[in-house]
Amino acid sequence: MNQSLLLADVTAPEDVTAAGVAAPGRISWTRTPLPASDLATAAQIAERCAQPAFGQVFTEHMVSARWSEDRGWHDARLRPWGPLVLDPATVGLHYGQVVFEGLKAFRQQDGSVAAFRPADHARRMRRSARRLAMPEPPEELFVESVRELLAQDQRWVPQAPTQSLYLRPLLFATDMSLALRPSRSYEFLLLAFVTEAFFGPAAPSVAVWICEQYTRAAPGGTGEAKCAGNYAPGYLAQAEAAEHGCQQVVWLDAAEHRWVEEMGGMNLFFVYGEGAGATLVTPPLTGTLLPGVTRNTLQILAADLGLTIEERRLTVDQWRADAESGAMTEAFACGTAAVVTPVSRAVSAEGSWQIGDGKAGPTTAKLHALLADIQRGRTPDRHGWLDRIPSAAAGSAAGPARTIAP
Ligand SMILES: Cc1ncc(COP(=O)(O)O)c(C=O)c1O
Repeated sequence: MNQSLLLADVTAPEDVTAAGVAAPGRISWTRTPLPASDLATAAQIAERCAQPAFGQVFTEHMVSARWSEDRGWHDARLRPWGPLVLDPATVGLHYGQVVFEGLKAFRQQDGSVAAFRPADHARRMRRSARRLAMPEPPEELFVESVRELLAQDQRWVPQAPTQSLYLRPLLFATDMSLALRPSRSYEFLLLAFVTEAFFGPAAPSVAVWICEQYTRAAPGGTGEAKCAGNYAPGYLAQAEAAEHGCQQVVWLDAAEHRWVEEMGGMNLFFVYGEGAGATLVTPPLTGTLLPGVTRNTLQILAADLGLTIEERRLTVDQWRADAESGAMTEAFACGTAAVVTPVSRAVSAEGSWQIGDGKAGPTTAKLHALLADIQRGRTPDRHGWLDRIPSAAAGSAAGPARTIAP
């Protein structure tokens, strides 16, 4: 594998060649969108988006790009959504050399569309890829893919204030070989689907199951990478959670099974105290939990509000004691899909306890509202988190090939 490419930092700006020919070392882009006559009508889109189940109402296009040892990143395409043809020996299917991301785009107050922190998700995908010995997708390729897909499919970005467009970048190994070594070829894909608030508008808070039997991640493992193999092992625990009347699983550390780490697809925050004097506690990034972009966003917003932020470890026993004494006033989970979700009750093999009064507390509600307002352009984006898509580019027809730096 070409290590110099894998580790190269990408700083060169996007370049467009008039002739559409890729300069050496640059990625060529091809756009082949559906003909205008085949695009869904506004009424069809509205009908499909009326009640979108998570991950099922996809837009009409996707982006793909490839990596090979001899060519590096190449062949970036904006193309109609469609099935992949995979050899049964495609190595990613067998050995799990697969990483992905999840970010969102929002309809803005002024009618335009913006993606939230795409460069940060790009950087996390690069770290995940590095952990799985995969070539790191250049930040420009990632961000440009988001822009291309949003420019083409922006009619799918919902107007409804509870909905958004979820973007799913995926990178998988494509060698047709079952040799137990890193693949020598890869495919990057970007898909998009319309989503409602993750738990639905009717589920304002969740009860969580504290899982002691299974673990999600161990030191030295892949907990801080967003790799496919981290997720299916949680399904059994998720079923256990449902049996105990809980919507989500809380994962504990692998060694002692007593330190709170995170949830299946969300990071956790605990609120102590109230109002301007509140302290926000979240477990530190020890390598076994995913460094959430939402987690980081909320830490910054909380600091803006003058709250105290602490990263420190918390045991399950302490969680229970602090909730029962009233020192802990609120708890919430956060992530791209679930945004900010209050945690009202925790259940473990030893018993259950309520946090606060069982509803979304004021600090949780304030942070949630602030985040949503920034994401939807209702309040100024002081941290430069929104990547706005020029509306003139909406639904653009096939254009010349363009090139970007690798
Ligand atoms: C295991 C896990 N933890 C936390 C998160 C939250 O991360 P983010 O806020 O970047 O979506 C996710 C979602 O990506 C996740 O899968």
